[in-house]
Amino acid sequence: MILDINNHRHLIAGLCVILYLILCSWVAYRERSRRRQAAKAAAAFNQTQEGPPPWLVAYASQTGNAEQIAWQTANALHAGGIPTQIRSLAQLQASDLQHTQRALFIVSTYGEGDPPDNATTFARKVMEHSLPLKQLHYSVLALGDREYTNFCGFGRTLDSWLHAQGAQCLFPRIDVSNSDSAALEKWRHQLTQLAGTGTTIDWQSPSFETWLLVARRHMNPGSAGHPVFHIELQPQGEQALPSWQAGDLVQILAPTDRERAREYSIASIPSDGRVHLLVRQERHRDGSLGVASGWLTDQAPLNAAIELKIRAHNNFRLETNADRPMILIGNGTGLAGLRAHLKARIAQGLRQNWLIFGERNAATDAFYQGELESWRTQHQLRIDWVFSRDQPTRRYVQDQLRNSAETVREWISNGAAIYVCGSLEGMAGGVHSALTEILGNHGLEQLIETGRYRRDVY
Ligand SMILES: Cc1cc2nc3c(=O)[nH]c(=O)nc-3n(C[C@H](O)[C@H](O)[C@H](O)COP(=O)(O)O)c2cc1C
Repeated sequence: MILDINNHRHLIAGLCVILYLILCSWVAYRERSRRRQAAKAAAAFNQTQEGPPPWLVAYASQTGNAEQIAWQTANALHAGGIPTQIRSLAQLQASDLQHTQRALFIVSTYGEGDPPDNATTFARKVMEHSLPLKQLHYSVLALGDREYTNFCGFGRTLDSWLHAQGAQCLFPRIDVSNSDSAALEKWRHQLTQLAGTGTTIDWQSPSFETWLLVARRHMNPGSAGHPVFHIELQPQGEQALPSWQAGDLVQILAPTDRERAREYSIASIPSDGRVHLLVRQERHRDGSLGVASGWLTDQAPLNAAIELKIRAHNNFRLETNADRPMILIGNGTGLAGLRAHLKARIAQGLRQNWLIFGERNAATDAFYQGELESWRTQHQLRIDWVFSRDQPTRRYVQDQLRNSAETVREWISNGAAIYVCGSLEGMAGGVHSALTEILGNHGLEQLIETGRYRRDVY
């Protein structure tokens, strides 16, 4: 009898293992076929056909706004019967521009008036030289935010460089502050004229949906920093949970400022059944709470309706890095996007994950410690916690990177990708310098060019 039960136990355990393996292969298969389909869609769009030379729609985008508008622009021209090619600036060479008659550039600005990460090579290799472009007719849509000193800095630089090369303007550059709808409407109007479609183009952007705030947990009571909350949201009523990928963002409208959406990285994956966020409560100098963070972390009661939409963030998805070892570096609420990546990878059985996470004090600021530590004990994660204020001299993630320089080089030579998420000030700049020291200028540039160094910094 005892033998029988034991036999059954072995049988059940064996079946569980087989089921788990089937599930893992199915998830991996689905991801591979999704990527194949995305590549096919871009290739189909860019197929050169007989007839007039195609227009070029080129974009440079850090978090996907410019990329989304580029696709909408290309679709609009296509609908007007204009053959169109869509390319990121990372894929453009000087010779491509010399063979183009008409081009629309949609570019955002990062850092302090800098190009987005994946356009830095274009800025250096192409825009630092002169290039005769008399044949080219172009326009620029520059995305930015008026609160920055170098408003639309990269769009302006690109525009004046094109002008200096003899290219001719189709219509003057349009600058967009914070997705300002009036400026975007101007761009749409110009496109309608160009495409000759007569009626104003429909962008078909997804609209905001009503979700419910179903859980909220204070993550750092007693912290020296501002309060941070773990928040869970699910669609209201019968609405199905939409799909998203690790790395994607949500946009949220606060009831008192329904014009200007705020963006947060998603900290969960669809199989969690809910969107998780990690939100720091902002407080202005006058003591008032930040509009959206105050709404999510304080004013909205549990079960409050939240206007939300999910936005793809292609630059920070796993994409071609899905099967590589991964070094994830972040601080503060930047852990959100990194946690989603870890969840997705661990669900797929990928164990080569190295997280370097920084906050102030271990006693109060070790977000998601239980979960992260249990991944570590199951050998699914290597983790370095870096608490800046737990010793007399401050220590940050970039210091930890320097201490582990040899291991970083080993991981990179084994094909690892690096994902950085968190604050631009201090952290991202410091990490960039440390990586430059560890891998050399050329080494880091190669990672950028091949999409193995990705940043979601703010
Ligand atoms: C870290 C950071 C730095 C930024 N720096 C600038 C800047 O110097 N000038 C500017 O006009 N906009 C700046 N922006 C605003 C972005 O250009 C703007 O949000 C744009 O819509 C992003 O488009 P994308 O998603 O295509 O990258 C910055 C945004 C962030 C998060």
